[in-house]
Amino acid sequence: MAENNLVRKRSEEVMAAESSLLKDLDSPETGGRTTATLPVSPAASSPSMAVFRAGIKPPPRTRMFTGLDIGTTKICTIIGEIDPQGRTTIRGISSTPSQGLRRGVVVDLDETVSSIRTAIRKAEEIAQVEVKDVLVGIAGGHIQCHARTGTVKVANPERGVTRADIRRAIDKAATGEVSMEREIIHTLPQRFLIDDGPVANPEGFASQQLTAEVLLVTAAVTSAQNIIRAVRQAHYRTAGIYLEPLASSLAILTPEERELGVIVVDIGGGTSDLAIWVDGSVRYADVVPFGGDSITEDIRRGLKVSCYDAENLKKRFGSCLPEAIHEDDKLEVPVALTGETQQVSRRFLAEIIESRLGEILMMVREKCEQTPWNDRAFGGVVLTGGGSLQDGSVDLAAKIFKRPCKIGKPTGLSGLSSVASSPIYSTGVGLVLYGLYHDQEFLYSETNMFQRLVHFFKRAIDWY
Ligand SMILES: Nc1ncnc2c1ncn2[C@@H]1O[C@H](COP(=O)(O)OP(=O)(O)OP(=O)(O)O)[C@@H](O)[C@H]1O
Ligand SMILES: [Mg+2]
Repeated sequence: MAENNLVRKRSEEVMAAESSLLKDLDSPETGGRTTATLPVSPAASSPSMAVFRAGIKPPPRTRMFTGLDIGTTKICTIIGEIDPQGRTTIRGISSTPSQGLRRGVVVDLDETVSSIRTAIRKAEEIAQVEVKDVLVGIAGGHIQCHARTGTVKVANPERGVTRADIRRAIDKAATGEVSMEREIIHTLPQRFLIDDGPVANPEGFASQQLTAEVLLVTAAVTSAQNIIRAVRQAHYRTAGIYLEPLASSLAILTPEERELGVIVVDIGGGTSDLAIWVDGSVRYADVVPFGGDSITEDIRRGLKVSCYDAENLKKRFGSCLPEAIHEDDKLEVPVALTGETQQVSRRFLAEIIESRLGEILMMVREKCEQTPWNDRAFGGVVLTGGGSLQDGSVDLAAKIFKRPCKIGKPTGLSGLSSVASSPIYSTGVGLVLYGLYHDQEFLYSETNMFQRLVHFFKRAIDWY
């Protein structure tokens, strides 16, 4: 019964992650050093999964990048590097409770700035490096996807389509009407049409004209700028902004899974983000403005407990499979108002969780069903983010999506990989991987913000 009494002490997920990190740093293996030079795991000593995953050649010299995941519940900083052998090492990782965000959007700049500063400084200390630029994730209900096409005449049809032609076609597709209040975050080429029909890569094909089909991902200008502003006020520079479900996908999916087609659902605190991958490319991305915090809120109201106890109950005793819990299984929890002990049924707790998580997953499913890609995600559904840790989440998702489901977590890393391999860090790890493997030039960044006109013609182009 003692186990059932909720102990009032710090037990937020971020605290758990931190203590696990501290344990790593204090372990005899590391000798309590603050630099992240943990023994390389067997998996990490093989050719890096991350290189394999990205399908990109490693750089000629070691490069380092920092990912900043400004989440609704935690702000996490991950410093990673890739060496010429393609080994991806996490040098520093930190997580600090997030203040100042609501449903993925900055609502209190000062609070956000201070959380960002704390998170980056902690990671800098661990990695023993000074961070200047960060790659930042973006999510929130303001994110939208738009399918666009752009057609151009091929400059020299006999010589075949060149990269310059491809660039012009993509740029043309990206210059369609996007309102002044929205900013293009990504331009994701889907496929190309030449005179003879559709091709994945038109380079070298003889054709009179070329059409690019692209997926534009746009965000509210104000939301994107507030992120950049918060990072700048914390005295760092935004090297690029990257859509969070795409970042998470990069960290957790293998090329086979992307090729086969999967739906990635990142269940965070304030939002649940989704990305549909088909034939190796991302075809659709969207955000449902509810996450694990809505579950906690339902528990708080349903059981009349404090927010703190509701969160604890959810993580320690929660499940989304009420039918698997005996009806006599009871918990002792203090009533928020009086402090008196009350008995609550674990099955009832599970019913609350099942109901809200089920509702969130159904909203994700509905969004997927409205796209032509839903039926082509043959692989199934990959859950990630803190909400995926809810006991029974895979079974519930399998019931709702009626296809195979699993939890996706970052793999194939060395260094602080034991900490970074939690689904909570999928976005942060994905941001670092993006920095390590992709060209920065095309990201919507701080510099670009001041060069909107130039940016207008050099729309963000991501190659997968
Ligand atoms: N073991 C667990 N069981 C159930 N829920 C959990 C568990 N661990 C974390 N969570 C929930 O996961 C959510 C936080 O997930 P995550 O860290 O991915 O969110 P975030 O990135 O801060 O938020 P967002 O992506 O919405 O901006 C919280 O609602 C938390 O209660
Ligand atoms: Mg998140």
